[in-house]
Amino acid sequence: MQEFLNKLIEKHKETTKLGKVANYIPELGKANPSDLGICIIDNDGTEFAAGDYNKKFTVQSISKIVALMLALLDNDEEYVFSKVGMEPSGDPFNSIKKLETSESKPYNPMINAGAIAVSSLIKGVDAKHRFNRLLEFFKKITEDPTLELNPSVYLSESETGNKNRAMGYFLKSEGIIEGNVEETLEVYFKQCSINVTARTIAKLGLFIANEGKTSTGEQLISPRISRIVKTLMVTCGMYDSSGEFAVRVGLPSKSGVGGGIVSVVPLEMGIGVYSPALDSKGNPVAGMALLEDICNEFKCRIF
Ligand code: DON
Repeated sequence: MQEFLNKLIEKHKETTKLGKVANYIPELGKANPSDLGICIIDNDGTEFAAGDYNKKFTVQSISKIVALMLALLDNDEEYVFSKVGMEPSGDPFNSIKKLETSESKPYNPMINAGAIAVSSLIKGVDAKHRFNRLLEFFKKITEDPTLELNPSVYLSESETGNKNRAMGYFLKSEGIIEGNVEETLEVYFKQCSINVTARTIAKLGLFIANEGKTSTGEQLISPRISRIVKTLMVTCGMYDSSGEFAVRVGLPSKSGVGGGIVSVVPLEMGIGVYSPALDSKGNPVAGMALLEDICNEFKCRIF
């Protein structure tokens, strides 16, 4: 396995040239487009890692699944899905287009509009408290106490996130967001700006693969929540590439514009990838190719 991963990283260094790092959030533009790393952790704790698996990057949209798990712990499932749907939108992650035509409820929790609605459901007395609860929950499920906010990325997101802000205010006007919009956006921008590594992301994948159990056997979410999250990862996790990705790779996965992908091999392993050069849909181009090769070799896809 180790040998195979080393070779794959070497092979797909070339693939990184097909993508570009995100720069609509200026701080993300500083990433090195040729970085590529992977970490795989199986359910007996065995780890394999290669390339830039220990390099820090911001979790970005991968945080949407962490926020969804916490929102489902904080609220009834029925209430959460009265605020956000469960259907693929087929549109880019930051699209605003269907908000007005979808009974004003965002299509799913993976696109920005849906994720902002989900972040509004995380309980706390103010934005700081709500973000801290999310950060502590993220540390617990990944068993990574080093997780922290990247303040420069947070400021960069907050200063340039006008489309997200527009969606937040629209959702407020429709009664989807019930609290203060700026507080919800602070939680959303901060959750996206948490520093992680491919290893952290692999631990997140493993937690979901093990139906919400940590390595010490602590059950932190119900198997039902883990099933909801895995299903939405398959149908919506790679945005308007989710269908093609399901054919090519076939694992519940979630990408982020920071370059991360988390993939889940149910009951077996978690995979974390770092690959900041993105395709035109905002997904890590070499990261997806790596995952496709892994699934071809080990036949670990769920379909
Ligand atoms: O809201 C945004 O645009 C970013 N904070 C997150 C977007 C993202 O990661 C999309 N994923 N590929």
